[in-house]
Amino acid sequence: MSGAVERTLVLIKPDGVVRGLVGEVIRRLEQKGLKIVGLKMMLLSRERAEELYAVHRGKPFFEGLINYVTSAPIVAIAVEGKSAVRVVRNIIGLTNPAEARPGTIRGDFALSIDRNIVHAADSVENASRELSIIFNSDEFYSYKRVDEDWL
Ligand code: CMP
Repeated sequence: MSGAVERTLVLIKPDGVVRGLVGEVIRRLEQKGLKIVGLKMMLLSRERAEELYAVHRGKPFFEGLINYVTSAPIVAIAVEGKSAVRVVRNIIGLTNPAEARPGTIRGDFALSIDRNIVHAADSVENASRELSIIFNSDEFYSYKRVDEDWL
């Protein structure tokens, strides 16, 4: 069966949490067959947020982005599955909700690029970097989903 098993990071950002979309986001990941291997709610510190979004430093939206992601709790989810990085990006949809397709999280629940509910790593390399910023190594869990052999 094709597709290497990958691990990636999904963040439900402050707008997703305060709008009560935590369950909706997790439901969509689980129903696809992805396995949650780490999960926690946290308030991102400025330092951690700036490290996470280091590639955007210097861009016009950087300050606003950091203020927004540190303004209320987030829910961080470590997700595992075949081609998880690409699969998760497809589930969440394009960064700009105006362009995101219906059926995607951003396509269904968001209107503006600076309030787009979720974040997900865009490559295997970034996934590994971002996971290590958010999770300690003892916060990942190993188990078998009952449907794993069928996915
Ligand atoms: P995210 O996937 O978390 O990655 C960077 C975030 O910056 C992005 O989602 C948006 O929420 C935010 N952002 C705000 N303005 C822009 C912009 N013009 N281009 C890209 N990202 C933006």
